[in-house]
This record gives sequence, structure tokens and C-alpha cells, in this order.
Amino acid sequence: MAPTSSAEGPGLLRGKTGVVFGALDDSSLAWYIAEAIYREGGRFVLSNAPVTKRFGQLEGLAEKTGGSPIIYADATNNDDLTQVFEEAKTHFGGPVNFVVHSIGMGINVRKNKPYEGLNYDWYLKTLDISAVSLHRAVHAAMEAEAIADGGSIVALSYIGAQRIFSEYSEMGDAKALLESIVRSFGYRLGRKGIRINAVSQSPTRTTAGGGIKGFDALFDFAEQISPLGNADAASCADYVVTLLSDLTRMVTMQTLFHDGGFSSMGISDKTVEMLAEVMANNGT
Ligand SMILES: NC(=O)c1ccc[n+]([C@@H]2O[C@H](COP(=O)([O-])OP(=O)(O)OC[C@H]3O[C@@H](n4cnc5c(N)ncnc54)[C@H](O)[C@@H]3O)[C@@H](O)[C@H]2O)c1
Repeated sequence: MAPTSSAEGPGLLRGKTGVVFGALDDSSLAWYIAEAIYREGGRFVLSNAPVTKRFGQLEGLAEKTGGSPIIYADATNNDDLTQVFEEAKTHFGGPVNFVVHSIGMGINVRKNKPYEGLNYDWYLKTLDISAVSLHRAVHAAMEAEAIADGGSIVALSYIGAQRIFSEYSEMGDAKALLESIVRSFGYRLGRKGIRINAVSQSPTRTTAGGGIKGFDALFDFAEQISPLGNADAASCADYVVTLLSDLTRMVTMQTLFHDGGFSSMGISDKTVEMLAEVMANNGT
């Protein structure tokens, strides 16, 4: 069994403050990330879309993480994002040290529109929510002078940005754009000593993950192929913590795979055996 992190961390983020976008419920990657940051001594403002207020789940996370302030904001709205960073700065008495962007939604995917027949209004909305929102957030933060020198920004991505996973559809385009924004901004933020990276995470059972048609097949396939198996949300959170910490201070503009080795694999013994079995059953 893979080793797990301790309940009380080594305090990698002690004294650091930040903003965590995208915790919807206790399956969200951002939920795990917020808990891990808190465990390591970091403090933060939580933010999610105003529509999520009625679910009332974020309050629970805020409470568990020492009374983190919640600022509801639509990540496609510049004024909302400016307010997040202005309020975070006021709350912490200065610029923050980290930002976690864990936001995504594929509208055509959710509405079962195939890639060949995308609704373009929905497509643009998907790109705005899932990718351009990172640009908007970083822009708003820089305008508000809300990120301290040496700060770290992490966005969540998926290997569908680089390879085709048929049902991932428009989200592959959104993630490709997200990863490009990471590089483009990384160059510019480097001058200010701020870094930005994307973590390309294994399929994980969350609300957004479950919205992808054929998610179970995607999950099982990756589980079979990856030498370490799929990376779960808790291990993703631990990895993100390292990227927010000073230990990784010279890493920027990268898409970093957190996927149990999936991205380096072609075919595994298990898949060969499975295919052989299927072919034998089909009499081929
Ligand atoms: N679950 C997976 O398999 C997986 C794998 C790799 C990467 N990711 C990425 O991880 C990130 C987090 O997703 P998750 O799997 O934890 O699912 P999730 O549904 O828990 O998180 C997605 C979040 O995006 C928020 N959001 C949507 N529209 C928004 C808007 N207009 N303004 C502000 N917030 C908005 C949602 O409210 C939600 O909190 C996403 O970028 C996702 O693409 C997920």
C-alpha cells in the first residue's frame, strides 16, 4: 500500500496566505487541497461561484480550516475576481503567497453535445470558465498587487490537454488553453519572482469528473495502465502543497503530471491480458 501523509504535516506552508478557488463539496480536489494547506500551516480565503452558495457546503470547509473567509465570485467576471483579491489582501493585511485555481466545467460535455456538433456559445463559456478564468484571476490579482514576490499559483489540468480521450471533447481544448496560459503568464510573472504551474491529475471521482461521459471507463483504464495506479485527491493535495511551498521555488511554467505514471505509459501487461481475453472471447 502506498504511504499516506501524516495528519499533522511538517508545516511547509507556515506563515503563508492565499486564495483557493473551486471547492464545491468534500469530493472536490480543491477541498482536499484546502485541508492539506491548512494542515501545513497555510491560511486562505475560499472562493466559488455565487450559485454554489445555496448548496451551503463551503461553510463547513471554512469552519474546518480555522474560519476561512468565503468570497463568492464568478470566475468569468473580472469585478468579482478583483473583489476576491482586494478582500483577501485586506483580510491578511497584505498580498497573499499562493493561489489555487481548481475550476472547470464543460457545458457541451454536460449537455451531451458531441465535439463535431458543439454549441459555440456553450463552447466559449466552457473555455471561459475552465481556462480564461485563470488569466482573469491572475490579471485581477496583479492589478490589485495581491500576490507577494516569491508567490506560487497552481491550476489543475488533465492529460486530455495533450492527447485525445474521446469523451473529454471540448474540455481537451480548454485544458490546452489553460496550460498555454500557464506558460504565457509564467514568463511574465517570473520577472516578479512569482511562479505558476499546472498539475495534470489522474481521473478522480468528483462532481466535475463525474460529468464526463464514460468517466468510469477512463478511470478504470488509467488505473490499469498506471504503474502506481490512479493518484487520488488526497495525494494530489499533498503534491499541490509542495508546489505552493518554497521547496519548489525554481519550478515554473510547467505541466506537472500527478498521475501514478500514466503519462509515460504505452501499454501494460494487464491491458495486454485484458485484450487477449476479449479477443479470445470474440474468437479472433
Ligand atoms: N476530477 C477529475 O478527474 C479531474 C482530473 C484532472 C483535472 N481536474 C480538474 O480539477 C479541477 C477541479 O475539478 P474537480 O474534479 O475537483 O471537480 P469540482 O466539480 O469539485 O470542481 C469544479 C469547480 O469549478 C467551480 N466553478 C464552475 N464554474 C465556475 C465559475 N463560473 N466561477 C467559479 N467557479 C466555478 C465549481 O463550482 C466547482 O467548485 C478542474 O479544473 C478539473 O478540470 C479534474
